[in-house]
Amino acid sequence: MNQLLCCALVFLDISIKWTTQETFPPKYLHYDPETSRQLMCDKCPPGTSLKQHCTARRKTVCAPCPSHYYTDRWHTSDECLYCTPVCKELQYVKQECNRTHNRVCECEEGRYLELEFCLKHRSCPPGFGVLHADVTLCEEAFFRFAVPTKFTPNWLSVLVDNLPGTRVNAESVERIKRRHSPQEQTFQLLKLWKHQNKDQDMFKKIFQDIDLCENSVQRHIGHINLTFEQLRTLMESLPGKKVTTEDIEKTLKACKSSEQILKLLSLWRIKNGDQDTLKGLMHALKHLKTYHFPKTVTQSLKKTIRFLHSFTMYRLYQKLFLEMIGSQVQSVKISCL
Ligand SMILES: *[C@@H]1O[C@H](CO)[C@@H](O)[C@H](O)[C@H]1NC(C)=O
Ligand SMILES: *[C@@H]1O[C@H](CO)[C@@H](O)[C@H](O)[C@H]1NC(C)=O
Repeated sequence: MNQLLCCALVFLDISIKWTTQETFPPKYLHYDPETSRQLMCDKCPPGTSLKQHCTARRKTVCAPCPSHYYTDRWHTSDECLYCTPVCKELQYVKQECNRTHNRVCECEEGRYLELEFCLKHRSCPPGFGVLHADVTLCEEAFFRFAVPTKFTPNWLSVLVDNLPGTRVNAESVERIKRRHSPQEQTFQLLKLWKHQNKDQDMFKKIFQDIDLCENSVQRHIGHINLTFEQLRTLMESLPGKKVTTEDIEKTLKACKSSEQILKLLSLWRIKNGDQDTLKGLMHALKHLKTYHFPKTVTQSLKKTIRFLHSFTMYRLYQKLFLEMIGSQVQSVKISCL
């Protein structure tokens, strides 16, 4: 019994040494058929691939990676990895590929990567509503509205097939399916579709009515002029990840007072992985009661939410969406009514 325990302890001791030991160069265990022994071979360094395992007489043989191939760590693979061949649209090569590093692509100055695209970072641009190279509150409400109550298994494909303009590619559709819940998928798809088609005349024509919606939102909240502290309280009341004080300060500097709330709400949504802004705002309004928040402001926000949930949106949906994607989805019921 004692002996067994002793053995177990020795074994434990060895295994701890094994896992904590930091040998250099790093090693791996290899069975040598010649001597029928387990050998400790050196791993291959970055920039090379394994050519021959070590033997009792010879060290591991590693060969340099060919051009356009790399390895970036110590490893035991007999192949190098192929460097990312091309950067995406609007990206530049930040660092070329060499034997030890993959090619690094980065969005051009003033842009950041979202999904497949380098989107523009913009301070508040002129005009109402459009805040980011993102979706506006109206578009968000509308895109979320366009979610069917019953998901037929191929709903997303039907939508992809019927949306006019540049088609969202199958790869992106698959990614949306993988990453988002069925509830979210329509929103993500429409967002991507809008991004791909926003400069086409067809899209502008379809979305003229969205502009009317933006006008209404602007009428409801454009007059609100909050102090830094008030904006901070509002942002703190939103659930999930918080917009930072720096973001609030920047927004106060870069945006007109009429654009600040919308800009911050949009930042909050992006920060929270496309959470529903209206739901977030409703949550915030409940919590704002405990602060002495200007009543006129909470009322304006409530009116905006009501408007975006309203029959107006339903009409917009009918007019645009059904016209846009045709009879294929006529039978689809909408979620809110
Ligand atoms: C490979 O590129 C990296 C940066 O991408 C650099 O630090 C490194 O020195 C380069 N190696 C060679 C051999 O040029
Ligand atoms: C907003 O309020 C601040 C003071 O709280 C004032 O200085 C500023 O002129 C106001 N802006 C607008 C557009 O009303």
